[in-house]
Amino acid sequence: FNIVVLSGGESAESEISLKSGETVARALSSRGHQVKIVDPSLVDLDRFDWTGCDVVFLALHGTYGEDGTIQSTLDRLGIPYSGCDAATSKLAFSKSASKERFIQHNVNTPSYVLIHESDDAGRIEQHARSMGYPLVVKPDAQGSSLGVTIVKSPEELPQALARCFHYDSFGILESAIKGTEWTVTVVDDQVLPLIQIQTPHEFFDYEAKYTEDSTQYLFEFDLPTNVIQAIIKTGVNACTALGTTGIVRVDLLVDRFQQPWVLEVNTIPGFTDHSLVPKAAAKAGIDFGELCEQALTNCLK
Ligand code: DAL
Ligand code: MG
Repeated sequence: FNIVVLSGGESAESEISLKSGETVARALSSRGHQVKIVDPSLVDLDRFDWTGCDVVFLALHGTYGEDGTIQSTLDRLGIPYSGCDAATSKLAFSKSASKERFIQHNVNTPSYVLIHESDDAGRIEQHARSMGYPLVVKPDAQGSSLGVTIVKSPEELPQALARCFHYDSFGILESAIKGTEWTVTVVDDQVLPLIQIQTPHEFFDYEAKYTEDSTQYLFEFDLPTNVIQAIIKTGVNACTALGTTGIVRVDLLVDRFQQPWVLEVNTIPGFTDHSLVPKAAAKAGIDFGELCEQALTNCLK
């Protein structure tokens, strides 16, 4: 195939996206494809010469890349692309909209309140008090844990809100589930090996994700099979609730009662050397290029 890998962009995750794009381009080239990396923050896609391009691999994370915007542009241009369609991308990129779908589909997710930067501070504080501390403050639509804070007391709330609203005008207050972080990678109908994340950080934050090697990624678990099956099933159900396609990664917490809670589904998960999906593919003995190829072939059908 003649493939354009879109990476970079203007989101807060553009640096990560450039790394994802490189990994994907390398992997697809090694499978014999003609690959060109294009950064939409430097090129006008409406004027770009698409002649000969069979398909686009989207390695764009965050706003504009993962939220349905670029998908709509490519739909308008009539160019097939990897991953979810515009509407599903938009749905999955909003944590509150996703949670509504999870609730409708009985997919266990921590309770939440949607907040806006124009909301009265006293009201937000009231919501926080009735949810109870600790709680998590997150931008509604953002990735890589940017703008996320675990808030332990009312005094910490204003700063957490400021951090959150720096990234999005909407945010969520989410109940903090005490437990370990897990991830389920789903590629169309296929489930890749589960990964448990052990980080010395308070949670799997930006630094733990990308800039440090202190995180441990576990593939062997000292847990009963039925618990493992329940985690996988919850992950797959989350994807069904949103109607995702292609390579997606579900992030979950598992509490001390071994109950899984879905946090979100990433429709363009990180593909960097530090990222979880390439690790899961490697564990399954699947060549990462082959996986990307599979995601592209299915989007051409
Ligand atoms: N948003 C980042 C790239 C991830 O989910 O891996
Ligand atoms: Mg995410």
